[in-house]
Amino acid sequence: MREDLLTAAKITGDDDVEETLRPARLDDFVGQTNVKERLRITLEAARSLQRPLDHVLLSGPPGLGKTTLAGIIANELEARIMVTSGPALERPGDAASILTNLEAGDVLFIDEIHRLPRAVEEVLYPAMEDFRLDIILGKGPAAQSIRLELPRFTLVGATTRKGKVTAPLRDRFGIVDKLEFYTLDELHAIVVRAAGIISVPITDDGARTVAERSRGTPRIANRLLARVRDYAVARADGVVDASTAHAALDVFEVDELGLDRVDRDILIAVVETFAGGPVGLSTLAIVVGEEPETVEDAYEPFLIQRGLLKRTPRGRVATELAFRHLGLTPPEDPQPRLL
Ligand SMILES: Nc1ncnc2c1ncn2[C@@H]1O[C@H](COP(=O)(O)OP(=O)(O)OP(=O)(O)O)[C@@H](O)[C@H]1O
Ligand SMILES: [Mg+2]
Repeated sequence: MREDLLTAAKITGDDDVEETLRPARLDDFVGQTNVKERLRITLEAARSLQRPLDHVLLSGPPGLGKTTLAGIIANELEARIMVTSGPALERPGDAASILTNLEAGDVLFIDEIHRLPRAVEEVLYPAMEDFRLDIILGKGPAAQSIRLELPRFTLVGATTRKGKVTAPLRDRFGIVDKLEFYTLDELHAIVVRAAGIISVPITDDGARTVAERSRGTPRIANRLLARVRDYAVARADGVVDASTAHAALDVFEVDELGLDRVDRDILIAVVETFAGGPVGLSTLAIVVGEEPETVEDAYEPFLIQRGLLKRTPRGRVATELAFRHLGLTPPEDPQPRLL
């Protein structure tokens, strides 16, 4: 098989620290109680019935644990995991190459599954449904179709954009679940766990401060913990307490809601440049210097969840809370009137 199709032979994070912190078992995975419970039931049933797990589709904003869960599913099944991604599978032959190299029980993880080309998706439909592969050899009247049996495997798909997964593909997943932003208590537990693993002395308040500013996202919690640890070592006594954490997060421009500079640039653009909105996504993206997709997938969900931004048919609108958060007085009637 062409190795380049497997974006990584094993799951690798953005850095080594992310890798060491990734929980390997369902019991170590903090939060997402309902998703975990549903997975646990399905995993147990698959084990008892001695059949492969149904295909799983996980959606949700970046850094909430989709890749981690894919790894956990494989670990819990004691199965191998093959990792690839939507954009890596350019042609039907790429998908065929991966599928024919699977062994019975394998987990195939396709990240960014909403970016699969249509022709590749069509190869997946019979593979997912009936574990078969239809290959067309040659072209025109001489073309021949051959059918290959595939081993029974489990496809785990991940996407930050469930809305962009086509209906026929989505319908072929037995389990479709969405990860939500984490609560403060869950993030607190994640920070404490991570501090234990990377041996950072941290107080309960220190962990809470990091949790509060993590945008509801474990990946960010882990990143901030590392930055706060650096600050504690370089500028204080090495222990992460609340005041060290506050000081460090100010230096790294993470505000008390956990917004980073891009989050604030987005709010400032809507509030100041566009007088509170509405403003279209592409215009907004140009003003803040990001791709529209990045604004929509990585930044907006949290701003919306925190009640700072609203999506309306006419564009993005800043809420009263957004004005106040930027230290400004909201206009009397933030929605422009139709004259
Ligand atoms: N529930 C959790 N408990 C503890 N740590 C977690 C949890 N979820 C995620 N993490 C940590 O956050 C990091 C990022 O998670 P992960 O890579 O699974 O996110 P993702 O949803 O796949 O993001 P992306 O959309 O960017 O691919 C992991 O390395 C892991 O350390
Ligand atoms: Mg991922």
